[in-house]
Amino acid sequence: MKSLTNRIAKMQREKNFCKSGRSYSRRMQFAALCLAGLVGIVGAGAAYEDVSSQSGRLHSETAVSGDRTPPVQDGAEIYQARCLSCHQANGGGVPGVFPPLVGTEWVTGDEEVLIRVVLNGMTGEMEVNGLSYSGAMPPWGAFLTDEEMADLLTYIRTEWNNDASEITSETVAKVREAVADRKEPWTVEELEALREAREKAKAEAAQAKAAEETAAKTTTEAEEEK
Ligand code: HEC
Repeated sequence: MKSLTNRIAKMQREKNFCKSGRSYSRRMQFAALCLAGLVGIVGAGAAYEDVSSQSGRLHSETAVSGDRTPPVQDGAEIYQARCLSCHQANGGGVPGVFPPLVGTEWVTGDEEVLIRVVLNGMTGEMEVNGLSYSGAMPPWGAFLTDEEMADLLTYIRTEWNNDASEITSETVAKVREAVADRKEPWTVEELEALREAREKAKAEAAQAKAAEETAAKTTTEAEEEK
């Protein structure tokens, strides 16, 4: 009984060997294909790295020449590439040197003021969280498209516990057009004056609307009484 099983097993082994012998060349073909595929993947990877390092170089070249870069990065990536070196990864800045972007009126307040800051840059003395700063914030308008700017600003308005509204590329485009003639960075005073004017205009618009509503209500009430 045992020898029979042994013999069957032996036969099967031989059969398998023959089979594998027959398919040997096919296996070699398969292995060759695999190898070719692997070489292909590695080659493509190397080529990709080459291309992306080139585009990285192009990117910095265009940054220097001032061309707009195509929208290839999202807000977080743009922040890391353009802002992090001064305002830091946690948005906390460097006390007394680079102001923080966390919870500041500049970042979370009026969106038209913020867009101007980042489009044209700003200089002058300002106070943020009780510390005084008087450096130069560089202009970024030439390096970022409206979409990239909108993505970046929405990112800093909602990151690190900031909780302000998003900024659309339409708003960026509108402000960019309005300040197209402006070549120098804004001064802190100019932007503070603009902020005040816009807050006043907003308050007045809200008052006018409330007055209109009361007027409409009194008219309907008067009509109902008739
Ligand atoms: C070379 C350093 C540097 C870089 C890079 C930089 N900033 Fe600034 N930023 C400053 C300085 C300095 C000020 C303060 C300017 C002043 O004192 O008038 C400032 C001010 C600001 C302010 C207003 C003040 C505040 O703290 O809220 C905002 C908003 C701002 N930067 C956003 C950005 C964004 C967004 C980027 C990236 C696109 C960026 N900055 C890149 C140096 C920098």
